[in-house]
Amino acid sequence: MICQDYLTGAHSMDIPQETMDREVQAILDKIQANPSFNPDQLFDPAKHLAWKDEYYDEIKKFTLQELGITKTHTKPINNFGATYPFPLLTEEAIDIMKWEAFQPKVVKKYARLTNPDFSLKTNRHDFHIAGYPEEGHAPFTKSVYDHPRLKEIFSKLIGMEVTTTYGYDVNHVNVALADFDLPKDAPLYEPSKDENGNTVFKAEETGSILGQHYDSTSIACVVMWECPQDKGGETVIITGDEKPLVIPNIARPGYCTLLQARVIRHIATKPNTNSNRIATVAGYYPAAPVLDNSCLTSVRPSILPRSVHDEFYTEWFDFRFHQLERVLADKRKKLWQAYKQGKTFDQKDVIEFSKECQEYLVESWREMEFATNAPYPPPLFSKPYSELSYNVEGN
Ligand SMILES: [Fe+2]
Repeated sequence: MICQDYLTGAHSMDIPQETMDREVQAILDKIQANPSFNPDQLFDPAKHLAWKDEYYDEIKKFTLQELGITKTHTKPINNFGATYPFPLLTEEAIDIMKWEAFQPKVVKKYARLTNPDFSLKTNRHDFHIAGYPEEGHAPFTKSVYDHPRLKEIFSKLIGMEVTTTYGYDVNHVNVALADFDLPKDAPLYEPSKDENGNTVFKAEETGSILGQHYDSTSIACVVMWECPQDKGGETVIITGDEKPLVIPNIARPGYCTLLQARVIRHIATKPNTNSNRIATVAGYYPAAPVLDNSCLTSVRPSILPRSVHDEFYTEWFDFRFHQLERVLADKRKKLWQAYKQGKTFDQKDVIEFSKECQEYLVESWREMEFATNAPYPPPLFSKPYSELSYNVEGN
């Protein structure tokens, strides 16, 4: 039954008409009420970029080592850990992106409710939208992520050249909307306090769109569209000593946070008041011809209903096969170069390389529903870093 549902578009998780007519429509009405709003344009850095180059030195950044993470479950792309939120896009840019994402035809076709099995305290106001920019429904949004200036900024901050991953994981929208039947900003639950009355973070009590997890792409670029101030909704990093590091909620619409989310355990919390929290995530990976460390764990259709089966897997295998093609082409070139330079053919190296490619192919299909029905969340999501097997270089 479940299988039939996700094979045919996961329509049991469609957004209820009531949510479309009330909360979603209210977002569009608010944007449209701005007389200078113009959705018919493409991204122009001079107009839509809030970033300033002095931020390279000013924003707070962490390496994996500074987060105390010395062991990971897979090879990190480098030692980059995370940034605090920094201004990236203007409010005008965010309004256009929101306008494109919340069009009724987009929500109808590309949005699905959050899977209630894997999130805490979610309801009909919690959903994801993805895949629509790649299919031509969001020219502005697509032009933002395609722009070389964005890639340049992220590459400098991360310390290696990066580029966006396959379309489905570029501009994935996490939506948690305020319920119109409750007073705006009313507390949804009391935050936990310690014996001195200070607010403390407890993962098991905090509402979240996704509980403690690793992302399935190498780097997560989180761009805020709406966020309550000082009312929850933060990103929480679990550091190497298993303690929560709450990234301060200084984000405003258009602020961005970068995180090596494939190897840093983290939580996206829900606001603890009746407020909207809308955040987008774009996946990035190294631009060089190397085999990426992305996976299917949290994005496969049976886990994340917004991943519509036929489209998602076509994109996924297009991405993975293309990666392999690039890596094989690069290796072929290097083999001939070595031969022409009179070097001895390195059998050991080619065996290792072939094994890596073999493993990459296996990783590409291992988590598909046809091959596995592994429980979710996987045990890995709650395993302490100290029990992981990969030693981070530089420790
Ligand atoms: Fe995440």
